[in-house]
Amino acid sequence: METDKTKENRNRVLVYFVHPTPHKSRLNSAMLQSVEELKDVTVRKLYDLYPDFHIDIKLEQQLLMEHHVIVWQHPFYWYSAPPLLKEWIDLVLEHGFAFGHEGNVLKGKKVLTVTTTGGRQDAYREDGRNNFTMRQLLAPFEQTVNQCKMTYLPPFIVHGSLLIDEEHIRKAATDYRKIIVLLRDKIFSNNELQKTTYINNLLDLPI
Ligand SMILES: Cc1cc2nc3c(=O)[nH]c(=O)nc-3n(C[C@H](O)[C@H](O)[C@H](O)COP(=O)(O)O)c2cc1C
Repeated sequence: METDKTKENRNRVLVYFVHPTPHKSRLNSAMLQSVEELKDVTVRKLYDLYPDFHIDIKLEQQLLMEHHVIVWQHPFYWYSAPPLLKEWIDLVLEHGFAFGHEGNVLKGKKVLTVTTTGGRQDAYREDGRNNFTMRQLLAPFEQTVNQCKMTYLPPFIVHGSLLIDEEHIRKAATDYRKIIVLLRDKIFSNNELQKTTYINNLLDLPI
């Protein structure tokens, strides 16, 4: 049974779903569905909210203040995120709010990248087809988060999205939901989180 005590002890999770063509999405839309009804999880579909890229900066900053874990969920496009996430970062993470001497509002919050790639996992190695690992390619996001005195969590990544079958889509959605619940309920230790490259790996551990 859910008591006031369990609610108090939870992290509030803010999921930014950043997909320019959600009607064509197989994977990200299934993943989103698996978390959107969870308690203490707020979902913001950025392309629905801001199709013209006119972001409500104050509202976004208010939402950031009200949550503890921020999720950037998006398909991997040209080794990065779709452009509305970059616009959101440029506008919302303002000097004096998110960074700079006086910009301490986000300090201590956690950020999780959740992304899906057409390329397979072995393509994302230094000796693979894409020449770089995912962690190297995601470095600008990680350093943005560091600059805002937040913690960048190991990302949740699903590779091989173009050929993925229904069974694996269901598994990705279930794993994603488990990760969000574990982060919401503060089950991972900082030590576990620091040691892993992809947060997906933590699901194999006895928790
Ligand atoms: C504009 C565009 C750029 C893409 N760039 C990459 C890329 O750099 N690396 C990669 O592995 N897949 C790339 N893809 C494939 C997407 O990552 C893939 O379509 C997505 O993960 C599928 O998720 P969905 O079913 O939720 O749409 C790209 C796709 C598009 C449309």
